Parts: sequence; C-alpha cells; structure tokens
Amino acid sequence: MVLGVGTGSTVAQLIEALKDRKIQLAGAVSSSRQTSEALRAARIPELDLNNAGTLDLYIDGADEATAAGMLIKGGGAALTREKVIAAASTKFVCMIDDTKLVEVLGRFPLPVEVIPMARSYVARQLVMMGGQPVWREGVLTDNGNPILDVHNLRLEDPTAFESEVNQIAGVVTVGLFARRRADVLIVAGDGGVETFTI
Ligand code: A5P
Repeated sequence: MVLGVGTGSTVAQLIEALKDRKIQLAGAVSSSRQTSEALRAARIPELDLNNAGTLDLYIDGADEATAAGMLIKGGGAALTREKVIAAASTKFVCMIDDTKLVEVLGRFPLPVEVIPMARSYVARQLVMMGGQPVWREGVLTDNGNPILDVHNLRLEDPTAFESEVNQIAGVVTVGLFARRRADVLIVAGDGGVETFTI
C-alpha cells in the first residue's frame, strides 16, 4: 500500500517501527521535509501525492484531540500538507498521548498559516473572533509562509470555527481538523492504550 505520513516526534517513532518490522510499502507520501528525510533514512520510497491517487491510510500525531476525532495540528508547522494528505486519504489514524486529549479544543494555541503580506490583516480578524494571535517569529512553513498561533480560544463548535477562519482572505490553512477529522484516535497513557473509532 501507499501510506500517508504526517510530521512530528510520534510519526518519527512510526517510521522507525516501519523500518524495524520490515513492512513492505509501495511507498509513502510525506507531509514535510522533516518526514521526507526520515523516510529516506528508513529507505522507504517517497511518492508525489499527484501520482498516488487516493491513499488508503494516513497516520499522524496531533497537538490536541477530542474523543470525536477533532484535532488541533500544526505545532510542527506542517499543517497545510498534513491537511491535504488527510483529505486525500480514505482513513485517517491519529496517535496521541493522553495529555493531549481534551473535552473542548483550544487550550493548545491554534496554528494558522497565512501568506506573508496578509499576516497583520488576518491577525486583526482573529482578534475580532475572540482569539489572541501571536506571530511565530523566525518560523516559515515548508511553503514559505508565516504562522500565527491563536491563544485563548475555547472551540465549542470547531467545524463552524474552521469554516469561518477559512473565509478570511490570506489564510492558507487553519490547523483545525474538524471537517476532515480522524477516523480512528489511538490514545496512549500509563494505563495502556485506548482506541476511539469515530
Ligand atoms: C505538525 O505540524 C503537527 O501537526 C504534529 O502532527 C503535531 O505537532 C504532533 O507532533 P508530536 O508527535 O511531535 O507531538
């Protein structure tokens, strides 16, 4: 199969496991330069999403999640490519530890990737929506764009908020995965592993 691979320390462990267990993959679609490097090191061939069609499975971590599979992602600045691969995959499996499981999303600052000239404009709109955006200075995404991290949100209706942020001119991607949420959420804690199938 062709596997979609997210970004971050959890996914780095996944790539190690794939290497050690010698699972045969036709290839993997990568969500970031960081993941591409890890795939190269594991000798897993990387495929271009444009040539891969619909992927059977996408596996990624998250910064925050609800038991309903809604996520905040983008702490590692890879949100745009992650969102594209999640959208292009039949099944999205997300793995987190239990410190990231919440009732209501928003404790983790919500990443929003914007085109450079829209940074201040988008920040003002986010303030009007009740958030407190902070420019992640010194960081550009793999697409060359800055990120605003929006603090002080309590996302009671993540699907509506995702749509609203998507409407702001200059927004590339909001790191809220509510419309295309995880299909399976695997939560690891001291007591073992719990799986939520959504
Ligand atoms: C990358 O931009 C993020 O969406 C990551 O998926 C998220 O930050 C999880 O990373 P860790 O596995 O390192 O916690």
